[in-house]
This record gives sequence, structure tokens and C-alpha cells, in this order.
Amino acid sequence: MRLIITDNYKKLSRRTARHVAGQIELKPDCNLGLPTGSTPLGMYDVLVKLHQEEGLSLAEVSTFNLDEYRGLDRNHPRSFYNYMAENFFQHVDIKEENINFLDGTAGDIEQECQRFENKIATSGGIDLMVLGIGRNGHIGFNEPGKELKSNSHLAELAEETIKANQRFFQEEEEVPAQALTMGMGTILKSDRILLLASGRSKAWAVKELMKNRITPEFPASFLRVHPWVTLIIDQEAADKI
Ligand code: F6R
Repeated sequence: MRLIITDNYKKLSRRTARHVAGQIELKPDCNLGLPTGSTPLGMYDVLVKLHQEEGLSLAEVSTFNLDEYRGLDRNHPRSFYNYMAENFFQHVDIKEENINFLDGTAGDIEQECQRFENKIATSGGIDLMVLGIGRNGHIGFNEPGKELKSNSHLAELAEETIKANQRFFQEEEEVPAQALTMGMGTILKSDRILLLASGRSKAWAVKELMKNRITPEFPASFLRVHPWVTLIIDQEAADKI
């Protein structure tokens, strides 16, 4: 794993966006794996600027989002699809048909997960996967536990994750307790992976990730088996290493 420590969040965002833009320039029809959450917001901002001011085109890019809440329609204000639309898709020239999501409202979950896996495979696999990391070491919604699922699946959110995600919901709204997520195997099949971590709340997770061990109790540790992972973290997230 390669480690890049930036001075602050702004630099982390610029560095990551430049990397993603470089991938798009090298392979305009690349497949990107994308996260939601707070951490990638700055990266999406910079990518939008690169599109608007420097002509970066996503016209041939396909995207595969990591996860979606169970039960939320894509148009629900708190769905991850809506987050992506508001923060990224609406502001760039990506084609609607190239945006791929797990459908949180699917009746047959197994079939939906299989459809998503097949789509990734028939599209040629993910060239570059961008990931955030949970404070507890989750990746996508692969939460700590006795075992991890390899393929896309329905996941139960950890108590800590539900609490952490409450900030995206109105007070009276409940955070869904389940989500559809890419599995650890789906993620590890990506050609290259960027993992982002920002702020002191991620310092423990970053420290754990540096340890020479792999355990489902800390899902991000599985990234250690991948040949091309770059961690881009800011000073605060690097506090404990
Ligand atoms: C989001 C996702 C999650 C987040 C993680 C960190 O699509 O898959 O694993 O990356 O929970 O979230 P933030 O960036 O909000 O701290």
C-alpha cells in the first residue's frame, strides 16, 4: 500500500480528483467505482471544476456506486443516488445510462445483486475504485464481523454506522438499518484502489490499517492483499501513525 499524507482536506481532495481525472484522460471509457459520505465531497467539487473550467469530459465514463440504502427509492432525498446526482452527476456530462447503482427498492435482492455483479463484469471490471473508510474500518457497508461476504449483498449497518450517518438525515427521520453493498471481493477485483481518510475521527482506523494483519473484524484490512492500493489521507487522519 502506498501512503500519501496531505497537509489538509483541501489538498487531499485536489490530489484525489487529479488522480481520477488522470484515469479518465488515459482511458476516457473507464469504469469508476465511487463512494458517498463526507470524505469524497471535496473530490467531487474539484472534478466538477475540472469539467466546467478545463474541459474534463465524462461522456464515455461509466460509474458503479458502492452502495445504496435498503428501501430508499433513488429519488429519495437521502438516497445515495440522489447524493451523487446533487454533488456530481448533474454537474458533469456523464450519460444517465452509464450510471450504475444497486437498487435499494429491488424486490428480489439476490437477483439485483447478481445483476449488478454481471454489469460490472460485462463492462470489463472497475478500473479505479475510490473508497472512504468507516471509523470502525468498514468499506462500503462491509461491517466488522466474523466473516465478510465476497459479492454484492444486503448488509446490516453497524450501530456506530447508523449513528454516524444520522447527520445526513433530518432529526425525525430514521437512518435505514440495511443497505445493498458491493462485497469485499467485488471491491478487491478493481484494478486500482484509492482509499481516502480525513480528520481525527479516522485516525484509529488508519492506524489499524497499517498493521500487518488481515481480519474480518476490520474489513479495510483486506485491502492489504490488493497489489495497487493508495491511501490518501490528511494530517489529522495520520495522527496515530
Ligand atoms: C459510502 C460508503 C461508506 C463511507 C464511510 C465513510 O458510500 O461506502 O463506507 O465511505 O462510511 O464515510 P464518511 O466519508 O462520511 O466518513
